[in-house]
Amino acid sequence: MANRVTINADIAKGKINRNIYGHFSEHLGRCIYEGIWVGEDSPIPNTNGIRNDVVDALKKIKIPVLRWPGGCFADEYHWKDGVGPREERKRMINTHWGGVVENNHFGTHEFLMLCEMLECEPYISGNVGSGTVQEMSEWVEYMTFDGVSPMAEWRQKNGREKPWSVKYFGVGNENWGCGGNMRPEYYADLYRRFQTYVRNYGDNRIHKIACGPNVDDYGWMETVMREAHRFMDSISLHYYTIPGDWSNKGSSTDFTDNEWFGTLKKALWMDELISKHSTIMDKYDPNKRVGLIVDEWGTWFDAEPGTNPGFLYQQNTIRDALVAGITLNIFHQHCDRVQMANIAQVINVLQSVILTEGEKMILTPTYHVFDMYKVHQDAELLSTDWVVADYEHDGNRIPQVSVSASKDSEGRIHISLCNLSHESGADVQIDLRGLAGQKTTVTGTELSSQATNAHNTFERPDAVSPSEFKAFSLEGSSIRAQLSPMSVTVLEVIAG
Ligand code: AHR
Repeated sequence: MANRVTINADIAKGKINRNIYGHFSEHLGRCIYEGIWVGEDSPIPNTNGIRNDVVDALKKIKIPVLRWPGGCFADEYHWKDGVGPREERKRMINTHWGGVVENNHFGTHEFLMLCEMLECEPYISGNVGSGTVQEMSEWVEYMTFDGVSPMAEWRQKNGREKPWSVKYFGVGNENWGCGGNMRPEYYADLYRRFQTYVRNYGDNRIHKIACGPNVDDYGWMETVMREAHRFMDSISLHYYTIPGDWSNKGSSTDFTDNEWFGTLKKALWMDELISKHSTIMDKYDPNKRVGLIVDEWGTWFDAEPGTNPGFLYQQNTIRDALVAGITLNIFHQHCDRVQMANIAQVINVLQSVILTEGEKMILTPTYHVFDMYKVHQDAELLSTDWVVADYEHDGNRIPQVSVSASKDSEGRIHISLCNLSHESGADVQIDLRGLAGQKTTVTGTELSSQATNAHNTFERPDAVSPSEFKAFSLEGSSIRAQLSPMSVTVLEVIAG
């Protein structure tokens, strides 16, 4: 047996924060407008302007947290333009994303209403790059203050009597790039200043998130942690899986086996990035008080031919499902440090879980992975050892199988397994240590396909969808599973 996994069912290693299953929504392309907001007069079924089909689909995967309004858009966003009567709101050019007119119809009230409908936590990104301390401070006051103040009164005049509960607040986005092209020393000082005025009003407690590094910029992490760790609750990390380079990222659906392998290899790099950034964080925060929040991750391909390149619209195949499954397994293994992650982006942009076309909506293979994996939300990570075969391609090697396991509050064990190979199945023996002698039942769900570029379309919305996984046998407390090539599988084990 080439692949052997031992799950220590009686050794928990920490809670998998459900916020690892978070999403990101930016004023970019058709994410907010069309994807979420269609307006109250739209023929598309909506509640107060927000699409019903999208809300239902996101609730099904138990979306825990949603980041907004950007992204690069956040450091150009002036929140006061997006409150009050919609017809009076300022119109502006979205210079980052396609140069289209932003009418500000979706603003603070609409976003927080959406989060209430989704029953998820809002995560707001504040503007450091082109905003002021006062503007950021007043935004927090507007949303969360329950007393007599100019901002609270303005909120009430705009129709919201009681404040909202807003926990997660980011002080800037990519301030090393689109958020101001700053040096880490300069940003660290600005962070210290801006966050001072991000106040806790009443019972509302803000979790302050500093702008962390791009990919492997360990110098940024070192400097910002050294200078500002005392003033933050978390720090972010951004890493996108790009098969090619920025000038030629590669197609989302038309790719070679080499590109399949290269994409998964790059997705696996997330493990090293988190380990190395965590080591730097350990130096300043050995007790792991400060969380690492991977608030932008996922695949980034060339925009779909015929679409506005500034809209970043791409299809989503079984390859994306593998990237999602592998990455979520990595986040689980680092649950002592990774407290949130936000895949980019929720609808119609980059590695989306949902695509829309007019009134039509489809769920992508990535959606199905989030649905299958939701059982890990807030579960205890189980200690797991594995020895797996190499997936070899063109002289390069990566592990063929990715795995993680958790135990939920009702004692059910869930094991998620990805077979990365595009051509070979994987026989895996899973020994459940710590369950010996207990009566055990196992069920499973699998997402797989026959072609590397299989994807769902508006004509064939279920081309890639989960099915019952039956290719396993149970002997005592050992499971022997035959994973299909390019598949994501989740097993549920009930013992006792
Ligand atoms: O998600 C698209 C963009 O990628 C975001 O706006 C930015 O933060 C990142 O560079």
